[in-house]
Amino acid sequence: MPTQGMTAADFPVLPRHVGIIMDGNGRWAKKHKLAIAFGHRTGTETLREIIRHTDDLGIGSLSLYAFSTENWRRSDDEVAALMQLILDFFASEIDELDEKHVRITILGDKDRLPQRQRDTLIEAERRTGANTGLRLNIAINYGGRAELVRAARSLAEDARAGNLDPDAIDEDALAARLYTAGQPDVDLLIRTSGEMRLSNFLLWQCAYAEFIFPEKLWPDFTVADYDAALQEFARRSRRFGGR
Ligand code: FPP
Repeated sequence: MPTQGMTAADFPVLPRHVGIIMDGNGRWAKKHKLAIAFGHRTGTETLREIIRHTDDLGIGSLSLYAFSTENWRRSDDEVAALMQLILDFFASEIDELDEKHVRITILGDKDRLPQRQRDTLIEAERRTGANTGLRLNIAINYGGRAELVRAARSLAEDARAGNLDPDAIDEDALAARLYTAGQPDVDLLIRTSGEMRLSNFLLWQCAYAEFIFPEKLWPDFTVADYDAALQEFARRSRRFGGR
């Protein structure tokens, strides 16, 4: 079943890669006098709808910021709730995503995650690795600067081993060492809840992105709000020449 909302034909141009910072779960829970874990759980419902709609529209890549390297500083209860949601999300969604040929890539350092989460994420990447549909990138234990350091170190190691001429290091060479290697840069970055910061998300990939900051908190964000952001992107692209 396609999700409700607009279709690709309704847009003169669509982004090739959308990044989303899903912000406002905590404020949503507070507003409704609910436990913070419930805010994140409701946010996961939004996430499902947005992934489905992105796939229906035929957008090539979607990157979602689920857990930053800074999120470990939150209370043990909140971290545990988010870790559980990661397991629940993959348990309930992986069959549908795989059937739709979605290819999942985890952005971030999986080695520091608890064993069950690590195994789940590795298995999701393995199972969907040959799929040719939507590239779904989920940032977990991710930081943009750490990603750049990792890429630089990987280049340096190859240079030290004599397999890479330092003069051959250019933008393409560095981009090829990022978690998003092979995917286009982010064209549209959406951050919900009215906050206007990048918060260490896809620093390199957002170099030329359009930024849209809807006021709605993530659990209240709908497919219609997403379509509105995509329409705004299309207007901006037309005005500035587009691609
Ligand atoms: C920001 O809201 C959101 C997060 C830190 C987590 C986002 C995670 C999900 C929506 C679900 C988990 C992901 C997967 C892949 C299952 P906040 O808590 O910082 O909101 P606040 O600024 O209002 O406190």
